[in-house]
Amino acid sequence: MGITRKDFGVVDGKPVDLYTLTNKNGMTVNIMTYGGAMVNILVPDRNGEFDDVILGFDDLEGYVGHDTYQGALIGRYCNRIYQGKFTLNGVDYQLPVNESNGINHLHGGHKGYDKRVWNVLYVADYAEPSLSLTLTDEDGMEGYPGTVEVNVIYTLTEDNSIKIEYYATTDKPTPVNLTNHSYFNLNGYHSGDILNHRAQLYTDKFTPFNEAFCPTGEIASVKGTPYDFTEPKSIYDAVKHTEDEQIRINLGVDNSFFYGRKGIMKHFATIYAPESGRILDCYSDQTAMQFYCGNYLKGTPGKNGSKLNYRNALCLETQYTPNSPNNDWLPSCILNPGEEYHFTTIYKFSHD
Ligand code: BGC
Repeated sequence: MGITRKDFGVVDGKPVDLYTLTNKNGMTVNIMTYGGAMVNILVPDRNGEFDDVILGFDDLEGYVGHDTYQGALIGRYCNRIYQGKFTLNGVDYQLPVNESNGINHLHGGHKGYDKRVWNVLYVADYAEPSLSLTLTDEDGMEGYPGTVEVNVIYTLTEDNSIKIEYYATTDKPTPVNLTNHSYFNLNGYHSGDILNHRAQLYTDKFTPFNEAFCPTGEIASVKGTPYDFTEPKSIYDAVKHTEDEQIRINLGVDNSFFYGRKGIMKHFATIYAPESGRILDCYSDQTAMQFYCGNYLKGTPGKNGSKLNYRNALCLETQYTPNSPNNDWLPSCILNPGEEYHFTTIYKFSHD
């Protein structure tokens, strides 16, 4: 029980640490300071067998060499900003475009928070161990205005939840949108696709995307669509509708669901894997969640001889709706000096 540290390698001349958080139930979470990423999450199935339920790599080189944001903290702006352009207080900004992903700025650009080494503010070695990470994101980095001070606190609780608290302040107005990009496979990272995983999302609203993967300007009902997850449904039952426009544009499920007002803790999602009996519940006080089902994984070698294959995992990325700097009908992602950006997301593990 508690928290321990070991060396995990060196990036950009900076040492990277790997912290192991363990609770009284034996649940274990490994988090590294590179990208503030979760590297392993070991939780029991219905027979008490522990397995690692996130995709990733065995060593630091794997994370440095690949671009799928495995387990990482994402910022300064997660998800897409259309063509990397936005205007704030009359000034036009051009952020780098992630050519590998199309025409937009994605997940903070070429060197987002997933590719930086975070500092450790403190380690709390309690029954519910905590790791508090900080990052100074300098004015002008990846084209963003203002220096942003970020603090993310991971806590492993006694009820097998990973609580992630996100904080940020700035010295100039700037968009801020943070998330965690863990790829969950509740049968274990080595278990093939997640098409049998059953998802229930506690919202009937989503923001449809256009061909540029940005919201069309509508908050639409999921009723009658393949991504109506208001009742539990397998991922296969959604993606089999290849004739559907959103399924076609997003190559499957890669939709932004809308949960309304920020600041109220809500139950966002329940994911259930019938084979192992593992259950993942997601709670957050954010306004939206990108539900992404690994459509762009291309078979990169991963942990212990496994492959990061197409649809081998799903991500529950709590965040502001994509491209919100260009859509003033959406909750504002603009952080101003003197304000504090803050939200919390909880991933709770259990089994049937
Ligand atoms: C997005 C996908 C994107 C992926 C990159 C997800 O957050 O929803 O569209 O391709 O990140 O790994």
